[in-house]
Amino acid sequence: MSTPLQARIDLDTRRVISPISPLLFSGFAEHMGRCIYEGIYDPASPHADANGLRQDVLAALRELNFRAMRYPGGNFLSGYRWEDGIGPREQRPRRRDLAWQSIETNQFGTDEFMAFCELVNTQPMMAVNLGTGTIQDAANLIEYCNAPAGTLYADKRAANGHADPYSVKYWCLGNEMDGPWQIGHLEAAAYGLKAREAAKLMRWHDPSIQLVLCGSSNNVIPSYPEWDRVALEHCWDLIDYHSIHYYADNRDEDTASFLALSAAFEAYVDTLAGTLRYVKAKQRSKKEVYLSWDEWNVAYKLPGPDKVIREWSEAPPIAEEVYNLEDALVIAQWLNVFLRKSDVLKIACLAQVVNIIAPILTTREALLKQSIYYPLMLFSRLAAGDALDVRVRSPFYTTRKFGDMPLLDVSASVDEASGQNAVFIVNRSQTDSLTVTLNWQDRAPQQIKAVHRVAGSDPKAANSYAYPNQIVAHPAAVPRLDGRSATLIVPPLSFTAVETLL
Ligand code: AHR
Repeated sequence: MSTPLQARIDLDTRRVISPISPLLFSGFAEHMGRCIYEGIYDPASPHADANGLRQDVLAALRELNFRAMRYPGGNFLSGYRWEDGIGPREQRPRRRDLAWQSIETNQFGTDEFMAFCELVNTQPMMAVNLGTGTIQDAANLIEYCNAPAGTLYADKRAANGHADPYSVKYWCLGNEMDGPWQIGHLEAAAYGLKAREAAKLMRWHDPSIQLVLCGSSNNVIPSYPEWDRVALEHCWDLIDYHSIHYYADNRDEDTASFLALSAAFEAYVDTLAGTLRYVKAKQRSKKEVYLSWDEWNVAYKLPGPDKVIREWSEAPPIAEEVYNLEDALVIAQWLNVFLRKSDVLKIACLAQVVNIIAPILTTREALLKQSIYYPLMLFSRLAAGDALDVRVRSPFYTTRKFGDMPLLDVSASVDEASGQNAVFIVNRSQTDSLTVTLNWQDRAPQQIKAVHRVAGSDPKAANSYAYPNQIVAHPAAVPRLDGRSATLIVPPLSFTAVETLL
């Protein structure tokens, strides 16, 4: 009989990377496919409240505890006239949405989104259209959302039933403006100039807002990372965050490499963190700009840049992914990376939240939680306080894309205020369990409160409406605490979250 594989994780609560920004657990809802319409807002559903909002969807989103919600796009944003979506519903225009070649009814707009945010206990992260939109449109939207009543746009908001400003803090300056597929795409310098002027006007309306600049839309586009440098140099003094987007997939059916993707995520963050440091130094600046990973997920069905959908229908079912176990393990690693890079990464928005590339699928009557729902929920609930620099000794395995990689991918957090400590462990092996010794180097925990696990034997196993519980989070055996250490077995293809009271 072969000896079981051994690993060791050393934690020291004094070895802190950075405070974990709660905004790392945020989401993204776009007017695309069935995300808003038929997902969040569906007056025809038996689950809809009097305002057409799906109560079952709201409850599932509340459980994920998204700290912010990016809206309204996405590629949709770059052709959106936000004034179409306010005022009496029967007067709102139906328009062709060129980004997704669908019909936009405008029955859901800014005020409905604010009400939705309040109900799911999240804060809005709005975006201004810098494609077809002017800097004046951007300024007007800030006035509508954040100015006290007494001037035109703020009075429109009051007339629409909201006397008090919404005080939206986070604002994105356009979306993926580097991409030729974007409506009104701009070269980096042209975008930098436009974003700068928009930012100026927006800040003059409300100096308390925080602004997110468009970074490259992926790391394979030829203009990456030069786009980032140029845009940042134009806008450095006016912005707070720089965006990063990435969609992962296992199209070539190489699960060993897919399960090692955290290497690619970290390299991407490192390049952009280097770009931030370069621009900061060049500008002789004392201020910091952080990264906002405001689109991230596994995606297979997203229409490519040369997409031709042309359905011209309302809420067509675009990019409705079915997520499996290996996808959930990649999502867990991604969240590990967020903690390990928490010094530079301060916002991350899962793209998206319902139906489109989402943890939640709906039919008019039913709701399905997909595999990726569970790691998202566990991190959002347990990761708090500071991220720890954990030391991991693990056996390695060989991948085609990343060479030799450790079998374990780990992160940890400690919240001194509550004493809550969490260790997040992905076992990438498709065949082997690992015996893992957790070692708290600087103090003995009081108690291991719980162990939560998402696991299975088939990387392709997925939930369905007929079988909704194939891949869910289960409680696992709580190991005996032996002073400063505990030993647990993590099965192959698993994600384990160990919840401890220090
Ligand atoms: O999230 C789906 C789309 O992917 C977004 O609209 C766009 O920003 C990205 O390319």
